[in-house]
Amino acid sequence: MSIDDPVPPPDRHRRPRYTGTHPRRFGDKYKELQPERYPGIVEHVRQQGGTPAGSHVPILVGEVLAALDPNPGDVVLDCTLGAGGHAAAILPKILPEGRLVGIDRDAGELERTQARLAAYADSLTVHATSFAWVESVASEEGGAFDAILADLGVSSMQLDDPERGFSYKADGPLDMRMDRSTGRTAQHLLASVDEAHLADALRDLADEPEAAKFARAIVEARARKPLVRTLDLVRVILAAKGLTLSSWKAKSRDGDAGLHPASRTFQAVRILVNGEMDALDRLLDAAPRLLRPGGRIAILSFHSGEDRRVKIAFRDGVRGGLYEAMSDEPIRASAAETKSNPRASSARLRWARKPA
Ligand SMILES: C[S@@+](CC[C@H](N)C(=O)[O-])C[C@H]1O[C@@H](n2cnc3c(N)ncnc32)[C@H](O)[C@@H]1O
Repeated sequence: MSIDDPVPPPDRHRRPRYTGTHPRRFGDKYKELQPERYPGIVEHVRQQGGTPAGSHVPILVGEVLAALDPNPGDVVLDCTLGAGGHAAAILPKILPEGRLVGIDRDAGELERTQARLAAYADSLTVHATSFAWVESVASEEGGAFDAILADLGVSSMQLDDPERGFSYKADGPLDMRMDRSTGRTAQHLLASVDEAHLADALRDLADEPEAAKFARAIVEARARKPLVRTLDLVRVILAAKGLTLSSWKAKSRDGDAGLHPASRTFQAVRILVNGEMDALDRLLDAAPRLLRPGGRIAILSFHSGEDRRVKIAFRDGVRGGLYEAMSDEPIRASAAETKSNPRASSARLRWARKPA
């Protein structure tokens, strides 16, 4: 989940907030975050066609399965296990002898997902690490795979939780690390990042048309007062557009707001904080060595910078004989899928196949 040509504006498909008593914590806002108190609520929300808060709906599942073509006995690497939605669709296709190896750099989510996939425990191994280190994972797991999947970016669980700092929609600490055990937070990055570097990132990683202006605004703002909370950053971007939180809210209510002015900035900062492009480059480089003959790779990306890298790597791979075929065009979600899951609107799926 990544974000996208960024996160869609306030989400029609989210559940209404819990209104019982002025909830102050994210966990109190939605009944489905307290399933022990509201048994059956998650299933109920799904039956109503909604997306339970804090859960993740896998994207382009049928198309991913068609691209990866998992068969009984296959060993599949899911580089971005997330909530395990794609994994849960793949596992029944490869059992009983097959195995799925799941990677996620978010150890907390990984633990929850392992519990969710407990029925497949004998066929699943997980690694809490970045897929930048995919070759070490591969060497622990027998060296090669029949299929590799990467569904890039952040999950809805990460995005929905203000404490993670990924969202411009709610106040929280400016963290944005997928792996909270290590690395610089967004707060620390924004405190010292060079203005020109930040402007390049806003342009290259998020197609921000006002990159130079926003980078300048951030550097000027941090000289006055450190940016510590997500709403500190949102306010700086809004101010650069001549807006305030309340004038933006009023504009949104009138329905003429369009994309949130801070959405691209949040995307670029998140990508910088997590070194996402470097990890993707490493995966793309390693993949042909890690696939068995006839092996398939599928990558779901959520913005043009990612998609361009995937396209070039697959195209060069085909030209150099590392792959024998690739998708001609990115595969996009249908109107129906996008309607029920707005995150799907920016998803682009590409695949490639190694010669048999
Ligand atoms: C879009 S979600 C994947 C959702 C998953 N396909 C599903 O169906 O539930 C992306 C996940 O990848 C993880 N992730 C992103 N970049 C990563 C990286 N470089 N290494 C490992 N995990 C990564 C995130 O922590 C997040 O859990």
